[in-house]
Amino acid sequence: MVVIPKITLNNGTQMPVLGLGTYRGKSDEVYNAVKYAIEIGYRHIDTAYYYDNEVEVGKAIREKIDQGLVKREDIYLVTKLASIHHEPSVVEYGCRTSLESLGLDYIDLYLIHFPVGVDSPDRKTHAVDEKGNVKYNDVDYVDTWRAMEKLVEKGLVKSIGLSNFNSEQTKRILDICKIKPVTNQVECHIELNQKKLIEFSKKHDIVITAYCPLARPKPAEKKPAFLFSDKLIAISKKYNKTPTQIALRYLIQIGTVPIPKSVTNTRIAENIDLFDFELSADDMSVLDSLNTGQRICKFESSANHKYYPLSIEF
Ligand SMILES: NC(=O)c1ccc[n+]([C@@H]2O[C@H](COP(=O)([O-])OP(=O)(O)OC[C@H]3O[C@@H](n4cnc5c(N)ncnc54)[C@H](OP(=O)(O)O)[C@@H]3O)[C@@H](O)[C@H]2O)c1
Repeated sequence: MVVIPKITLNNGTQMPVLGLGTYRGKSDEVYNAVKYAIEIGYRHIDTAYYYDNEVEVGKAIREKIDQGLVKREDIYLVTKLASIHHEPSVVEYGCRTSLESLGLDYIDLYLIHFPVGVDSPDRKTHAVDEKGNVKYNDVDYVDTWRAMEKLVEKGLVKSIGLSNFNSEQTKRILDICKIKPVTNQVECHIELNQKKLIEFSKKHDIVITAYCPLARPKPAEKKPAFLFSDKLIAISKKYNKTPTQIALRYLIQIGTVPIPKSVTNTRIAENIDLFDFELSADDMSVLDSLNTGQRICKFESSANHKYYPLSIEF
C-alpha cells in the first residue's frame, strides 16, 4: 500500500498531497472507485453537493471504516457548498445536507465551490429566468464566508476553504476573516500551471488544490497536447513513468495537491504511484515551458457577473 505524504495547512491540520476526484463518475462507479482507492492508500477524497454522489462516497468510506481498514480520522473528506446555498442563513443547511448524504459526523474540508451565488426556489434546483438562463444572485461571498466560519465553530467541519477564487477575491476574504481559508481549489495542470496564483497563495499560507490535473484526457484527439508532447514523453521514458504520472508529479513538486479523477482501477493505481521518484530542476523547467494558460473550465454562463473569477489574470 502506498503511503501518501501530507502537507500541514495554516490551521495545523494535515492534508494528503494527492486526492481522488469524483466529478461526473456514475454513482456505482464512484462507490467502487472510492473503496478501491482507500484499499491501495488514497486517504483524501474530493466530492461536492453538485456531483450528486456524496451518498456513494460516504457509503464507501463508512464501509472501509466498518471493515477496520481505516479510522475516520485517517480519511480526509472534502466537499463543497453549492452556489444555491450561499445566503448566510442557508449555509448551515447546505453543510448539514452534505453531512446527511455522506453519513458522516464532520467534513474535513468544506469549500465555497464557486464565488457566484445562484437563486433557488427550493434550495435544491437552480432558479431560471424566462429564457431558461440560470438566475445568479448578488450574495457577497464574504458574507458566505462568515457563515462558513460558524460551521467550524459548531464542529461540523474541521477546515474551510475556497474554490475557483481569484487573488483579489481571496484577498477580500483574508481582509475580513476570523478563520483563514486553508486551500483554494482551482484548475491547474501543466498547460495552466497557475504559477502566479500559487505564489500569491503561498504568501498567505493557502495551499492550491489542483483540479483537472490531467486536463481531462481525450486520447483519440491527442488532448491535452502536453500529455502527448515529445518533451513530456522523453521525460517519462527517462524516469520509467507514464506521462500521466509525470504530469501529477509535476503538480506535487510545484506545491499543489492534485486530485485526479478515475473510476478505473488500473488508473487509480497508476495515479498514486508517484512517491518513489523526483523530477530534476531541469526537467521541471522543461515542463514549465509547456504552460499555455489554456483553461478547460471557463464557467462562461456567469462571465458577466461581478463575482466572475476569471476576468483577471489570476
Ligand atoms: N472545484 C471545482 O470547480 C472542480 C471542477 C472540476 C473538477 N473538480 C474536482 O477535480 C477532480 C479532477 O478533475 P476532473 O475529473 O475534471 O479531470 P481530470 O482528473 O483531469 O481527468 C479525469 C479523466 O481522466 C481520466 N484518467 C484518470 N486517470 C487517468 C490515467 N492515468 N490515464 C488516462 N486517463 C486517466 C479519467 O477516466 P476514468 O475515470 O474513465 O478512468 C477521467 O476521464 C474532479 O473529479 C473533481 O473532484 C473540481
